Order: sequence, then structure tokens, then C-alpha cells
Amino acid sequence: MDVIVINGGKALSGTVAASGSKNAALPLLFASLLAEGEHRFDNVPRLKDIDSTELLLNHLNCKTHRTGHQLAVTVKAPEDPVAPYEIVRKMRASILCLGPLLARYGKAKVSLPGGCAIGSRPINLHIEPLQQLGAHIEIENGYVIAEAKRLVGERIVFDFATVGGTENIMMAASLCRGTTVLENVAREPEIVDLACCLRGMGAQIEGEGTSVITIEGVNELKPAQHSVIPDRIEAGTLLLAAAITGGDVKVVQCVPADLHALINKLSDCGFEIETGPDWVQIKACHQWQSIDIDTAPHPGFPTDLQAQFMALMTQASGASVITEKIFENRFMHVQELARMGANISQETQVAVVHGNKGGLSGAPVMATDLRASACLILAGLATAGETVVSRIYHLDRGYENLETKLAGLGAQIERRSA
Ligand code: EPU
Repeated sequence: MDVIVINGGKALSGTVAASGSKNAALPLLFASLLAEGEHRFDNVPRLKDIDSTELLLNHLNCKTHRTGHQLAVTVKAPEDPVAPYEIVRKMRASILCLGPLLARYGKAKVSLPGGCAIGSRPINLHIEPLQQLGAHIEIENGYVIAEAKRLVGERIVFDFATVGGTENIMMAASLCRGTTVLENVAREPEIVDLACCLRGMGAQIEGEGTSVITIEGVNELKPAQHSVIPDRIEAGTLLLAAAITGGDVKVVQCVPADLHALINKLSDCGFEIETGPDWVQIKACHQWQSIDIDTAPHPGFPTDLQAQFMALMTQASGASVITEKIFENRFMHVQELARMGANISQETQVAVVHGNKGGLSGAPVMATDLRASACLILAGLATAGETVVSRIYHLDRGYENLETKLAGLGAQIERRSA
């Protein structure tokens, strides 16, 4: 199994481009199930989660073909619209095939994704709205078994602005009979990207990016031709990598507005940030202030940057209170940071990080989930000793060549087969 070896302590500098967004690409690829024919997606990142999605689409009778960052998906009716456990267990986002399959083929059998390291992550906010649209749904032998002759539009109020739940129901409602009004929906940029793609396929959607989305169902959709938005979490991780090394880095091919919450927090810490139409530059800063963060749905501070921001706070002056409000168990990096010498006290969903510049030392550490792996790499970049991060298959699920991008900015970092 591969490990990442870092000899840190060097300020990063230069320009780096963000890849396409993982969390936008996944629902877009599942949206292809809504229309038979050949779809084309550009700016699709090369990631393990995309491979898992392709595997599931192939299982559902679709052909996929990659050329660099372009992915063509040829959709044909599946003999049996089943998403098996062996594929779904690898990637929770597989649940996003439920809405499209049900809306397009009138039935779907999708394995329950099960728990996850960062929290229990139930799917009630996917199932109940589909029932409101008229689906008959049962859970049997670990599978969600759903049927509906034709889904019918309804007013649905989400209890929580779930990202995946909003996406699943947007896709299903696109082929409903009548009008669906979704209230208290997620407002993430990935939702806006999905709406754009669905609209290009012929869907009638408005309101994306606000908390109410209205969808006028149509009888048929056509294949998509869509370019995936830049990955705001990868761009944010690269900015935080620059910050923690006192570096001067310009991240290009990104959307500064999607990084608003992070940019505000970095400015509050004392970093100087400049933005252009599609770039963000962070300037070298040698001492930064501790800042508190609470994670929240967009436009709040993203939970997917909490771990990386915590790494930065280990090097700040003063104490930072970090509250994780989205997932109940997303602090597994705390113990690993502590093994590197960080002073962090944690109680359930609140961590207090006592910053100490230069207080980390290199150590062997273990990645526990995707964003925790990025956090440990950032911590490794901040210390002069050697840090070896193991279990980096988590990293490969969601970052495209992160170590190569960091090496291009001057980091001493490499992947080794252990
Ligand atoms: N929730 C429920 N019931 C549901 C759905 C969600 O209780 O039916 C709860 C979850 O347990 C969680 C909260 O609602 O506590 C938020 O979950 P949400 O549905 O918004 O998240 P998701 O769709 O499962 C996506 C991203 C995550 C990101 C979250 C929050 C994808 C593929 N995943 O997950 O990304 O953290 O939104 O922004 O888009 C990552 O990339 O590292 C990652 C975990």
C-alpha cells in the first residue's frame, strides 16, 4: 500500500490549477441515467470515486470512455436497475442513482450505503421525499427497493439542507408529472452545477443557489454536454497548504466566490489574499492569529475544509475553537495531529486547538478519511522532520495528484510503495 512521505518546513510558492470538482462530478454522472444516449462531461477529475461511479454505471448497462479529463457515458436501459452492495459500499454517493433510476425506469433496487467513518449518514432525507413524490419504498435485506409508475410533483420541505438529498430529488423531479417545489434545500455550488447540467438536458428548473428550487417535470430529457465546475475544496486545501508553510501561491482555474467563507477566515487570521475572476492568491505571512470556526451548510464554512483548517490553527498564535456541526464524528484527525505534537482538546463536536508555531514534529500518521488525509499532509508540510502518511487510499478517492501539485510548488513530498 502506498504512503506519502513529506519533508516539510519549506515555504510553497508558484501557481497551481484546481481540478474539476469531485462532489459536482458524482451527481452529474448519475444524472446521465435520466436520458438514454451519449453524454459528454468535461473537466472530470481522475479519482477513485469517479472510477467507482463508472463501475456502477457500467453495471447499469452504461458504457463509459475516458479521454484525459473528458468522460463519455453512453446510457442504455439496464436489464435490472440494481446498484449492488459490492459497489455501493465503496462509495456512499452511489445512493444518487436512486432518484434517476426510479424516475426514468419506474423501479430501482439500491443497496443501503451503511455507516461511514465520519458519521452515521442516514438516507431518510433521500427516501422520504421520494415517497412524497409517490414512490413505494421498502427496505429489505439491506436494499432500498423503490417503485413508482410515474412520480408526481409535490411541495417538499427538507428538515435539513442535505446536499445529496437535494440532488437526488432534483434529478427525480426533473421527470415527474407536474411541479415540484423543494424548500430548505442545499445551496452548495455543486447543486447549482447540477441544475445547470439538468437544464442543458431539457429540465425546467429554477431557484438553484437559493433555499427554494422549483422544477416543472418534463416527459423526456436529452443527453448532457457539460463541463464540471472547479473543485472548491481542493482549491481551499491548496490555499491552506500555502498558508501553513508561510508561502505565496496563486491557485488558478477556481471560483473565488465559492471560497468566500475560507477567504474571510484566512483574512481574519491576518493573511493577505487577492482574487481575480478565476484565481485566488495568498501572500506569505509568518505569524497568524487563531480564529474560531463553526462548520455550516453553504455559504457557511465547509465541513470539507475543517480538518485542513485545524492543521493551520496548530501553528497560529492563541487558541481556536473549532465546532463541527455537519457530521458527528469528523475529528479523527485530532488524535493523529496530537501524535505530531499538536495541543488539541476535544469534546464531542468541539475541538480547542492551542496554537504553537513550530510545535509540530514529523511522525508516522494514519489517514482516517479523505479530508483527514489532506490535514495530515498539511501538518507534514509545516514541520522540518519526516512525516509518513499511511492509508492514503482515502486521499486518492478525492484529490487528483495532490502530492504532484504540492511538489510543483516546491514541497518535498513523494508517494512511495510501502
Ligand atoms: N443526513 C441525514 N439524512 C439524510 C442525509 C443526510 O440525516 O438522508 C445528515 C448527514 O448524516 C449529515 C448531514 O445531514 O450529518 C449532511 O449530509 P449531506 O446529505 O448534506 O451530505 P452528503 O450529501 O452525504 C456531501 C458531500 C460531502 C460533504 C457534505 C456536506 C458528496 C458526494 N459528498 O455529502 O463530501 O461533506 O455534502 O457538505 O457531495 C467529502 O468530499 O469529503 C465529503 C464528505
